[in-house]
Amino acid sequence: MPQGAGRLHLHPRLTAPGAPLKSPRMALREIIILPDKRLRQVSEPVQRITADLRALVEDMFETMYKAPGVGLAAIQVGVPQRVVTVDTAKKDEPQNPQAFINPEIVWSSEEKGTYEEGCLSIPEYYEEVERPAQVKVRYMDLDGKTQEVAANGLLATVLQHEIDHTNGILFIDHISRLKRDRVIKKFTKAAKREAE
Ligand code: NI
Repeated sequence: MPQGAGRLHLHPRLTAPGAPLKSPRMALREIIILPDKRLRQVSEPVQRITADLRALVEDMFETMYKAPGVGLAAIQVGVPQRVVTVDTAKKDEPQNPQAFINPEIVWSSEEKGTYEEGCLSIPEYYEEVERPAQVKVRYMDLDGKTQEVAANGLLATVLQHEIDHTNGILFIDHISRLKRDRVIKKFTKAAKREAE
């Protein structure tokens, strides 16, 4: 999800080739855009925490902050693994990077909440989505330990949005078919234009 999920947030291009990165180990990865079919792929569970996995998570944070966004799923950088990065800290708060490996929703509230959502893979498109207002998510942390988090507000929405990505589901799947068809058509046309 883009930061703030508001209409004012633009989606800047990735750093120009050759631009310096924060750390030599970290790298920006290219975010894939609708209608890229990989976005519909169901991601594989992570078996264990490896150096490659840690590098992926670092790159995802770098890519997410640069975009800027509040959440990113590995499939959005073309890696079909069940890995999600999130930071819902406000602009005036310190960064709060959180990584969720193999996240799954183990409980959702009856109560619903609505947020205007966006997605780094569907740039500059925002629509209101209703989801459970609270969720409990079980996941593995970067030490390989199983953890559980109770989330509400923005974090609950972001976690549901990102976990959807690990299952090949996009936020536009939660809006009306008319609106969904319209946005898919728009991005398909844009991709064709770019390919020409
Ligand atoms: Ni998204």
